[in-house]
Amino acid sequence: MKWMCSLSLAVSLALQPALAEVRFGPHPLTPEARDAYVTDLLGQMTLDEKIGQLRLISVGPDNPKEAIRDMIQKGQVGAIFNTVTRPDIRAMQDQVMALSRLKIPLFFAFDVVHGQRTIFPIPLGLAASWDVDAVKQVGQISAREAADDGLNMTWAPMVDVSREPRWGRVSEGFGEDTWLTSVMGRTMVEAMQGKSPADRYAVMTSVKHFAAYGAVEGGKEYNSVDMSPQRLFQDYLPPYKAALDAGSGGVMVALNALNGVPAAADSWLLKEVLRKDWKFTGITISDHGAIKELIKHGVAKDPRDAVRIALQSGVNMSMSDEYYSQYLPDLVKRGVVSQADLDDAVRHVLNVKYEMGLFNDPWNHLGAQESDPADTNAESRLHREAARDVARKSMVLLKNHQGTLPLQKHGTIALIGPLADSQRDIMGSWSAAGRADQAVTLLQGMKNAIAGKATLLYAKGANVTDHKGIQDFLNLYEQAVSVDARTPQQMLDEAVATAQKADVVVLAIGEAQGMAHEASSRSDITVPASQQALLKALKATGKPLVVVLMNGRPLALVQEDRQADALLESWFSGTEGGNAIADVLFGDYNPSGKLPMSFPREVGQVPVYYNHLPTGRPYNPEKPNKYTSHYFDTANGPLYPFGYGLSYTTFSVSPVILSSPTMSRGDTLRASVTVTNTGERDGATVVQLYLQDPVASLSRPVRELKGFQRVMLKKGEAKTVSFPIDVSALTFWNARLQQVAEPGEFNVFIGLDSVRTQQASFSFR
Ligand code: BGC
Repeated sequence: MKWMCSLSLAVSLALQPALAEVRFGPHPLTPEARDAYVTDLLGQMTLDEKIGQLRLISVGPDNPKEAIRDMIQKGQVGAIFNTVTRPDIRAMQDQVMALSRLKIPLFFAFDVVHGQRTIFPIPLGLAASWDVDAVKQVGQISAREAADDGLNMTWAPMVDVSREPRWGRVSEGFGEDTWLTSVMGRTMVEAMQGKSPADRYAVMTSVKHFAAYGAVEGGKEYNSVDMSPQRLFQDYLPPYKAALDAGSGGVMVALNALNGVPAAADSWLLKEVLRKDWKFTGITISDHGAIKELIKHGVAKDPRDAVRIALQSGVNMSMSDEYYSQYLPDLVKRGVVSQADLDDAVRHVLNVKYEMGLFNDPWNHLGAQESDPADTNAESRLHREAARDVARKSMVLLKNHQGTLPLQKHGTIALIGPLADSQRDIMGSWSAAGRADQAVTLLQGMKNAIAGKATLLYAKGANVTDHKGIQDFLNLYEQAVSVDARTPQQMLDEAVATAQKADVVVLAIGEAQGMAHEASSRSDITVPASQQALLKALKATGKPLVVVLMNGRPLALVQEDRQADALLESWFSGTEGGNAIADVLFGDYNPSGKLPMSFPREVGQVPVYYNHLPTGRPYNPEKPNKYTSHYFDTANGPLYPFGYGLSYTTFSVSPVILSSPTMSRGDTLRASVTVTNTGERDGATVVQLYLQDPVASLSRPVRELKGFQRVMLKKGEAKTVSFPIDVSALTFWNARLQQVAEPGEFNVFIGLDSVRTQQASFSFR
């Protein structure tokens, strides 16, 4: 056996019995070296050891530590998720080295979705920043903190495009747009994996949920997806492809069926599209229980059938699903599943372990035991400054009547609302190893900002919801929502009395974080009734009213828009959320975020998305006509459109100038505008480029985002912003599923949201 150990390996091995067959590195991180190494290793493995590598489990009541030790000894486990501290991870990796025959290192994974210990805004909020550098920083810090806890892989980014505000998981994604989601997903992958997932402070990503999970019917969690191939290829698949082209080592196979075929049984998706067309060489991992669920989906008759189908369809590793371990040995022995199919799956697991550098050093993300932090949750391990900066950038100013905001730091301010002082909620769902007791609430953030210069009063005012069933749902697995012992009227009375003493009221309302999570679909997307009653009561005081929204999905905000003087969308803004919101409220930061999803007026309009098809009878608000496409009982279109967001300053956008009136294949046209800060403050905004192919062989969207740039402009400053347009921006999937760019006229729209734009046209030959 060759021993060319790294220092930490040598140190750790001194404590271990002699190793058996695995040749630890350094091995070059090249595909050729990896393939030779893995082929050699596969040749030494028994059937049970191979099947063990396909098993990904979580430590918990079903798999207590002692049972896992036993599995490790027998080579029955390939990876662990949900264990997040260095000592716990080291203990298991040490057991592999001490007890198992082949000593194939485990890898460790977790849902690091918007931070590991420092929690950043939820991904929907990150998308609202339209700030690629900020998102890059989030990815880098998240990976650093995750790797520093000993992790090797994250179940992120989630790039499920979604036009469904009823779906709670829109909070985890980057919104309704294909382009924006692709840019954000790619950025996350590049940032988290760094130069190599083997690096000390990088982790491998596993992009999810493949595919089209964001289009579940009715926004109902775990539901089916049915869509045309054109829409799938044009709108839903590109973000996964972008994340994979950026090098994501993993893909998580979704729970949903797509056009009748559950993803874990979809060999077309996992083999034809993913491996053959996209040339993906990494690992596919089933989402939690997806293999078992093939039976309930109605495509497998029993567990054996489910295992055969999943493996043969291209699911390499199984998450929290003991079926592979239980049924594969027999299926392979009987020749129902071929040795070659099994080896192919195992090879992918070993490949990613190799790429994670685990065969060079099984402890490469752990370092020496002596370097473990004395306190895992130490303040010094957090990145608060970055969290505050990114959170400020994620906020979207939806309304600001007569300059209600920013607030002055004098007089008396009443802060009211069930979300104003909730540490758990401000973190958002999937808050990884982040600790609520380290989060800054809005109350604390405003206290910090005011620093004694004004009087700050506080009252809770209402429960997030008074609906007992929903309270119980939210508190099912953790005590997430505290329900006040007082009656709703007592709380309201206190809030009104508090407001009456103040010059201005800030009201923090919205959703509990658990309302925008996995398994959190809503049929009603308004702010819950208890909070609306509070809003109404405070409005009646006649005090200037600033509403700060905390929520993880587009809400129907007609009431809030009508009653509030100013409205700030703060999402769930993370560990430093309270400071960041206060920065915006007091004008220490000028808001610049833009909506990554359209906000409907009411749930009955859903889906509402900006890049819809034109229809044969489009509704024209200037010439309303009964026989056009609209609902007769509500205004047409969203309350706040995609790409929308105000600032404390104002901007103007000049007419569009094209570098040429014509474009040929191979050319790059430039579309430019001059953006001027016409207001009284410095500020940033996001310039957005949309294209339209108005006459094509099939109906094309009224406009589609094809570029954006965030620009910072000093008061009075003007800048020219220019976008390249080449043939890739004009292509689409035609009726025969060919990617084409058809000659003809194209419209170019540039503006600061998806509606108010300047327009020009060019002809493509
Ligand atoms: C979710 C995934 C997540 C996994 C592991 C599943 O229920 O759908 O998004 O990564 O659990 O936590």
